[in-house]
Amino acid sequence: MGDKLDIIIFGASGYTGRFVIAEMIRICRNYPDIRWAIAGRSKQKLEAALLVAKDKAEDVSRIQIIIADAEDEESLKAMCRCCKLVMNCSGPFMCYGEALVKAAIECKIHYIDVCSEFTFLETIKKYDAAACDSGVLVINACGLGCLTADLGVLFLQQQFQGTLNSVEAYLTTQPEAIRGLPKNVIRNSTWEALIFDAMAKPFWGSSKKVGDLKLEPELKTRIFVHKRFNRWCVPFPGSEEIVVQRTQNYFKHSRPVQFKRYHSLPSLITSLASFIGGFFILFLLKVFCLSSFFLKYPRIASLGLVTYGDPDEKIMERLRFDYLMVGVGWRGDVKGAPRDEMIVEVYPIGKRNAPYEGTAIAVIYSALTILTEREKIPKCGVLTPGAAFRNTSIIDKLNNDNLKFEIKATNKI
Ligand SMILES: NC(=O)c1ccc[n+]([C@@H]2O[C@H](COP(=O)([O-])OP(=O)(O)OC[C@H]3O[C@@H](n4cnc5c(N)ncnc54)[C@H](OP(=O)(O)O)[C@@H]3O)[C@@H](O)[C@H]2O)c1
Repeated sequence: MGDKLDIIIFGASGYTGRFVIAEMIRICRNYPDIRWAIAGRSKQKLEAALLVAKDKAEDVSRIQIIIADAEDEESLKAMCRCCKLVMNCSGPFMCYGEALVKAAIECKIHYIDVCSEFTFLETIKKYDAAACDSGVLVINACGLGCLTADLGVLFLQQQFQGTLNSVEAYLTTQPEAIRGLPKNVIRNSTWEALIFDAMAKPFWGSSKKVGDLKLEPELKTRIFVHKRFNRWCVPFPGSEEIVVQRTQNYFKHSRPVQFKRYHSLPSLITSLASFIGGFFILFLLKVFCLSSFFLKYPRIASLGLVTYGDPDEKIMERLRFDYLMVGVGWRGDVKGAPRDEMIVEVYPIGKRNAPYEGTAIAVIYSALTILTEREKIPKCGVLTPGAAFRNTSIIDKLNNDNLKFEIKATNKI
């Protein structure tokens, strides 16, 4: 692997990719030996993406640009032969992801991505044996949403000092100051990914159950709007639940933790609207098969949430990303109802655009952890972030870079 670059950021011209470039420049000041490049299908767009990063007063002329198209297998392989690890920030992943996973495995390099598409995560599992034959890692879901949920549960397990039965996670993205439905905050490619996923999922619930263990007491979904931490919360099943379950089932020797996720909103009206709206959209997609309408007219179908351009910076700067995770279990004998509770908060601080800068930081430290702590990570396979990074110092690295994992409270129930 002598002269190879360490990391190639594929899809670097996209909205996420541009945050990854800027954060990579900043973070790699502390990793001067890491050699990295950016890649995508359009030289012009990649150059423009570098110029955005240049706002941060950095000389970017040394950063190599590699042209590769997700629809051209040979170009993907040529790119993969140049590096040790490829970081996929292109999307939607169901359209453009699988070819790169294949190319990475064939060229015997590690692959990571920021995917949170349930369908893609399921599709990629079939490459586990091939990844092991090549001795490489394929780690999906290293973006902010899934990685923090997965590592947050592991953090709770490590800190709890007992047996954790379940974790309920409450995600806040919308602060009190933003009432109603924000406009122009979702990129069209993310909307497409959401629609593809909704089409593939069952009408209700995250997907088939992972693992056969029947755990007592069972953690049931709170199916209605409910109040927690002074905010209104609605069930928000997504890939996070799948990723956490897969990680928990990966460690065969320990009791898996049950996990449910909710979205926490500032008012009863907003939460009811999002609950009913979410159901209504699923109903239209599933019963009336309206996916082509949703894909063709995303702005109308999303009531203005979706934008073809970059999300509205003024709103993005006000959005938060904050998980409050409530773990319950037993500090002593595992008997009866859980008696102990620990609350952990996971959140980025000091970020201009918390969701996207947070994603950039999450995926970059995933890559750096693979390259610098290889001996602490399972040898190979298609893994979740938690399964891959449990024994590494990734949480310390993230904490030191202001993506915080903090214990907020420990209580007797
Ligand atoms: N898990 C998380 O927390 C998280 C957070 C953020 C984003 N994401 C996911 O990341 C993905 C990208 O999001 P985004 O907002 O950055 O989207 P975006 O701005 O639309 O960027 C998409 C990127 O994919 C590239 N691309 C599309 N088709 C390609 C092809 N055939 N060959 C090579 N590159 C191709 C685009 O290249 P061009 O510039 O040449 O069009 C662009 O660089 C989405 O799937 C989104 O859901 C996940």
